Amino acid sequence: MDPLLNPFRPGAGIRPPELVGRQAEIDLVDLMVAHSRRQRNDGGLILYGLRGVGKTVLLSRLRQIVENAGWVTVQLEARPGESGKLIARQSLARGVAMAGRKMNRFQHALGEVREALASVTSFSATIGGTGVSLGVDPSPHRANSGLIEVDLEELVADLAAPLQKNQSAFAIFVDEMQDLDRDLLTALLAVQHRAGQQDWPFYIIGAGLSTLRRTLAEARSYSERFTIREVGPLAADAAATALAKPAEEFGARFTDEALAEILGAANGYPFFLQTYGKAVWELSTDRLIDGTTAIAGIEEGNADLDQGFFPARWDRTTPLERQYLRAIVAVSGSTASTSAIADALGKPATSLSPVRQSLIEKGIIFAERRGYVSFTVPNMDAFIRRQNDLDDVEDD
Ligand SMILES: Nc1ncnc2c1ncn2[C@@H]1O[C@H](COP(=O)(O)OP(=O)(O)OP(=O)(O)O)[C@@H](O)[C@H]1O
Ligand SMILES: [Mg+2]
Repeated sequence: MDPLLNPFRPGAGIRPPELVGRQAEIDLVDLMVAHSRRQRNDGGLILYGLRGVGKTVLLSRLRQIVENAGWVTVQLEARPGESGKLIARQSLARGVAMAGRKMNRFQHALGEVREALASVTSFSATIGGTGVSLGVDPSPHRANSGLIEVDLEELVADLAAPLQKNQSAFAIFVDEMQDLDRDLLTALLAVQHRAGQQDWPFYIIGAGLSTLRRTLAEARSYSERFTIREVGPLAADAAATALAKPAEEFGARFTDEALAEILGAANGYPFFLQTYGKAVWELSTDRLIDGTTAIAGIEEGNADLDQGFFPARWDRTTPLERQYLRAIVAVSGSTASTSAIADALGKPATSLSPVRQSLIEKGIIFAERRGYVSFTVPNMDAFIRRQNDLDDVEDD
């Protein structure tokens, strides 16, 4: 069918034609907004899940909801390493300044708004190193210590009253939160904690890989102030809607057989649904998409995934890391115990710790349970089996 009309959109963070199956998370945020209006803060929200499961697009939807409710927001995408640390601070500083600009349009408590903007200005200058012009001088003694936790807390404290008086709140959205540096992570958690105690209208809404759960558990008791939710694969009826509804809007339909084929292959993973949906649409010559076309489309879609989704991770690994990943597959599929991996590789487990650590830092595996590792990417095991024939790498 006409590729120009193709509604399916595989791609990181790309808004799907129909965002399905996430009502529970949307309800949580609606409740957060409602409580905030009553000056009650029940804490932030953290979403975790595998690659391609739909965390980023869900986060965008949630951000849209709170902005429609009149909140001011900042969006960060964490990245690993020293440069990531710097970028996160600069984005935070810029984002806070932009939020300040929105507050400039507030209708009530204008004196308090101006005072808060002075703290915004000093926060941005201190954390991001760049000046912003909000029409007020930076506060000489607020949010300018250079200690991120202290400055953020002062900023949030100063924003609280003017936000509340304007029926607003301030939220920081963090994607790829597992890559946030320790200092900033701890500061965000600590300030969320404090905001909960004081009922300040301040919220962290974060998303990242499953490693996040462990990181939060280790971050003192602050994680109590968060609702922590897994973003999982879609249930079958939601997955069917994700395919059928956009097709219908363009006058096309899947037969039951075609739907069953695609749902079976995608296992509820949104990235796969979009990939197969797109390929099937391209192949179908008829507005009624049948089982045979679906099967051909799945094959085509898998070829696309093998060119993009999987290599995006696989290509960043060293030969030794690949051996480790292959051992996970050989031992048991997508989760394996580190001792079984060591046995399979004929090496002492301790000697493999650096490889394991490096794969965790690259976001390819995660260790949710002690002594076990799992792939962050759904169906990575099947991809690696396909690679085994293609590029056998010698141990070095
Ligand atoms: N609820 C949903 N319904 C339909 N399609 C979805 C849904 N969520 C995500 N998608 C689609 O799945 C793909 C992956 O989404 P997204 O980039 O948000 O995943 P992610 O979890 O952030 O992945 P990563 O961990 O790689 O960042 C996109 O093409 C998106 O359009
Ligand atoms: Mg994402």
